[in-house]
Amino acid sequence: MERTLILVKPDGVQRGLAGEIIARFERRGLKLVGMKFIQMSQELAEQHYGVHKERPFYKDLVAYITSGPVVAMVWEGKEAIAAARSTMGATKPVEAAPGTIRGDFGMEIGRNLVHGSDSPENAVKEVKLFFDSSELVDWTRNTDPWIRE
Ligand code: RTP
Ligand code: MG
Repeated sequence: MERTLILVKPDGVQRGLAGEIIARFERRGLKLVGMKFIQMSQELAEQHYGVHKERPFYKDLVAYITSGPVVAMVWEGKEAIAAARSTMGATKPVEAAPGTIRGDFGMEIGRNLVHGSDSPENAVKEVKLFFDSSELVDWTRNTDPWIRE
């Protein structure tokens, strides 16, 4: 069982696409276990994107992710990380397949609408960074036997 941190980035919220983006993870069959609407602080953004600190786009990336509110979510399920990333599409929206979030709504790498954890190790770290364990809900979804075998 995996958990993954998903963010609807500020462009997704500003463009009124939060509901559409959330619905895609929901319909795919991932299970929502945590959700909040927040303005990320500079400090949280720097921690979240710490791995990119030496990259030339780091400053712009931190400015972008703190430029407006985000929807932060934790989605759970077997292979949740890979499932979420395939629903998101390639990092560069023009290379993302139609039918994916980025392929349907994005044009620029710096406005790519959504974040998803990229490995089990990073997912654990990112979920902890955004959520206290008391904010994550343990619940049974009655449709699970129709989604999971
Ligand atoms: P994310 O972390 O946001 O889910 O995206 P990702 O795994 O698909 O891509 P990653 O390599 O982790 O890059 C993080 C974010 O940085 C921005 N970026 N800009 N200008 C550039 O060359 C460049 N490269 C990456 C993107 O917004 C990307 O989502
Ligand atoms: Mg990444």
